[in-house]
Amino acid sequence: MSQIKKIGVLTSGGDTPGMNAAIRAIVKAGIHYNIEVAGIFKGYYGLINKTMKPLDGAAVYNIIHRGGTILKSARCQEFIKPEGRKKAYEHMKAEGIDALVVIGGDGTLTGARLLGKEHGVPIMGLPGTIDNDLYGTDYTIGYDTAVNTVVAAVDKIRDTAHSHDRLFVVEVMGRDAGFIALRSGIATGAEKILIPEAKTYIEDLYETLEKGSSHDEGAGIIIVAEGDKFGGALEVEKKIKSRFPDFDVRVTILGHIQRGGAPSAFDRVLASGLGFQAVKALVDGRKGMMVGSINRQIVFTPFEQTIKYNRPINVELHSIAEILAL
Ligand code: F6P
Repeated sequence: MSQIKKIGVLTSGGDTPGMNAAIRAIVKAGIHYNIEVAGIFKGYYGLINKTMKPLDGAAVYNIIHRGGTILKSARCQEFIKPEGRKKAYEHMKAEGIDALVVIGGDGTLTGARLLGKEHGVPIMGLPGTIDNDLYGTDYTIGYDTAVNTVVAAVDKIRDTAHSHDRLFVVEVMGRDAGFIALRSGIATGAEKILIPEAKTYIEDLYETLEKGSSHDEGAGIIIVAEGDKFGGALEVEKKIKSRFPDFDVRVTILGHIQRGGAPSAFDRVLASGLGFQAVKALVDGRKGMMVGSINRQIVFTPFEQTIKYNRPINVELHSIAEILAL
């Protein structure tokens, strides 16, 4: 018989499409296991400042398809300090919250690890970031939608690239990781994909541009991950212009459009499954772990490991993309 009577749920860090589907699944799992669920607003800030409210079936009705997060999100500086976490713990206790499910990226899981370690709180984490850079899961919640958003945008940009013989440098998100860039680059047939995990030398880039596309003179798409060593799309544009002054180069920085919008079916299903499993794990006595999905199996990875290790990118796929772009 589970000791847990009330679970708190929060979303922290950058919002992602699919967070609402996860919140819904957590509330429904709570109903299934006869556990109350409290929604904590604005991530760890809400724990420190006691902004929370009970969530029932009605509260999560009609949200599975909505982007963003009904609980709002924030990056909380106060929670980084031990005093902030102590305050959060005291407020949790005062509200009768026995356990937490946190949804977010690396920073969110780091905070969860410390709160769990310092105050013995049972916490399960869900991988919620568009960046797909968390060790312990094949896919993070929101990544698939973000990639599809990039693909839809780049397809449109390619129409203009082709019509005007222009070269577009498109910058995509991912913080220090190139997952969004690699996948969307392959899906859009980009002429070059620049990611931090695979060093591209400036000469390689020039060589690609010199050869040009055999089918479309002067036109093309270069996808740049924001964390790439070249320094983002504007820097890449500068370098290209200095070598090829006659090229008609344009920059598009896709920005936060990548974080918004309705979650894809994939993200809804992933978030629903992981959300349920997080609550079940707490009922089963697990804690201090992220719930992920690897080879379509549920996998629990201790926070220490998700934080310590980087999820490796498929560099072979990057090499294949180079060949396919010729
Ligand atoms: O981690 C998600 C992410 O969207 C990154 O890809 C990006 O670097 C960062 O968050 C942007 O953060 P903010 O919305 O705080 O500017």
